[in-house]
Amino acid sequence: MAYETIIVETRGKVGLITLNRPKALNALNSQVLAELLAATGTFEADQAIGAIVITGSEKAFAAGADIKEMQAKSYVDAYMEDFFSGWEAFARNRKPMIAAVAGYALGGGCELAMMCDFIIAADSAKFGQPEITLGVMPGMGGSQRLTRFVGKSKAMDMCLTGRMMDAAEAERSGLVSRVVPAADLMEEAMKAAAKIADFSLPAVMMCKEAVNRSYEVTLAEGLRFERRVFHSMFSLDDQKEGMAAFAEKRTANFRNR
Ligand code: HXC
Repeated sequence: MAYETIIVETRGKVGLITLNRPKALNALNSQVLAELLAATGTFEADQAIGAIVITGSEKAFAAGADIKEMQAKSYVDAYMEDFFSGWEAFARNRKPMIAAVAGYALGGGCELAMMCDFIIAADSAKFGQPEITLGVMPGMGGSQRLTRFVGKSKAMDMCLTGRMMDAAEAERSGLVSRVVPAADLMEEAMKAAAKIADFSLPAVMMCKEAVNRSYEVTLAEGLRFERRVFHSMFSLDDQKEGMAAFAEKRTANFRNR
């Protein structure tokens, strides 16, 4: 597929996707969604890829869903096309996805970052759910995911006032996993992704699945799920290799099986 709104590259075992609609601050229109789905789907299916990084520009990760595209929609339009449901498919990707965020991550941009497994932020990053200022509310998971990340009080504050949060506040409140100087953002994100991609891919994918499970089920069910998956890992060649490498004081050479 020839991409027009994103740039897709492979660096070693890491798939790198750069949102590329600079004139619209990377606003997420239906073409961006279709291309992101295709690119992440291709990386998901590619056994040689162990992690995916999604980033934007220095000025904007993404300034939201494309307001001009959705402006004229009617309720029936939105309902019949199940507007935004494609993002659910995006969020179901089984490979680890890291959002590397500089500049604005607003509305759908913040929601896209939260669909990734974790967010590394540049000190220039600004997060917000400003949909209320447009007469609507978050529609790509903001009211649900942001609340799980930062708790009810701050999520209400963000969604009801539409204010932005800087990188320091985002780190303090648990929205992002780390903040780095803007100049180091891509190096740090690619380093983290490369590190993950060097581990056993099945172990990484099972681990991601287990952490995500904690959002869906009770603690008792989550612990049972974790234990079952953990037990199953003793069938992996990579478990034998990882533990043998430790005992033999050498670096593990995972075979991803
Ligand atoms: C379409 C957008 C856009 C967006 C920016 N642009 N954000 N186009 N959708 N979400 C366009 C502008 O129209 C402008 O195009 C160009 O990008 C540059 O933007 P400026 O506003 O001139 O830049 P600046 O003054 O630096 O301000 C940056 C900004 C501002 C603070 C990020 O652009 C802004 O407030 N954007 C909207 C943020 C927002 O409300 N996001 C939520 C969207 S709703 P031209 O052609 O004029 O140069 C959403 C979920 C909806 O995400 C869910 C409900 C159904």
